[in-house]
This record gives sequence, C-alpha cells and structure tokens, in this order.
Amino acid sequence: MEPKALIELAIKARNAAYAPYSGYAVGAAVLADDGRTFTGCNVENASFGLTVCAERNATFKAVSEGATRIVAVAVATRDGASMCGACRQVVSEFGADAEVYLADAEGVYRTTSIPELLPGAFHGKQLHDPEGS
Ligand code: THU
Repeated sequence: MEPKALIELAIKARNAAYAPYSGYAVGAAVLADDGRTFTGCNVENASFGLTVCAERNATFKAVSEGATRIVAVAVATRDGASMCGACRQVVSEFGADAEVYLADAEGVYRTTSIPELLPGAFHGKQLHDPEGS
C-alpha cells in the first residue's frame, strides 16, 4: 500500500476526533501485514488522564480484530506533529520495525520509523530472559 493511501485514511479518521478540551484533532491509520487497515482518532475525557491517542485507538482496533503485526502507521494532525512516547511504545509492541508517516491536514508528510522514533525500545522478550532480575 502506498503511503498516500494510508495517510488519506488517517486524515479521514481525524474527522471523528473527540477533542473538545485541547482542540487538537488527530487521526491515525495502521496497516497490518495481512493488508488490512484500521483507523482511530483521539478521544478525550473530562478527566484528562483518561484521554486516548489516535495511534493507540487504531492499534487496539487492529489487535482486537486479530491483526497483531503492524507494518506501517500514518498519523494526521494539523501540523504534521510526531507521535507521543506512549504511542511509540504501544505501536512498537506490534510493529517494532514499522514505517511511520507523519502528515499534516493536507497530506504533506515525512517518513520515519518506530526504530528511529523509539531507539532502545523495551520489548516483551526481556520479560522472559532467565538471566534477568
Ligand atoms: N494526541 C494523539 O492523539 N496522539 C499523539 O501522538 C499525541 C497527542 C492527542 C491527545 C490529546 O487528545 C491531544 O492530542 C493533545 O495532546
């Protein structure tokens, strides 16, 4: 799938953002290794800490539909901003090598990746290391 197509999905998903407190709408789309795509938007809450980002919503939709290998993520914001640290970690769980497209509302984007955004990531395999303490 071309980056532009995934970005278009993220831009569309952004229309559903529920962001009455920050006014900052975010849309995301993830591409799974089986070719399926899943979208999400940020969903804020009056109890601010309960807000969930667009990237995590898209990722959890994918995983809850059985798509546990993410190969690419597109994020759409008004200014092409990057992903927050929490979302980098969550995407990394299912797409440690995923490509990331950071787009603005017009679809102008830059390409990066999870390894670039989250160097030295913590992975689940560390939890099973018998030498670990
Ligand atoms: N937000 C996202 O959806 N993704 C990110 O990676 C960064 C921030 C949302 C959370 C909140 O609703 C708004 O943007 C402002 O932080």
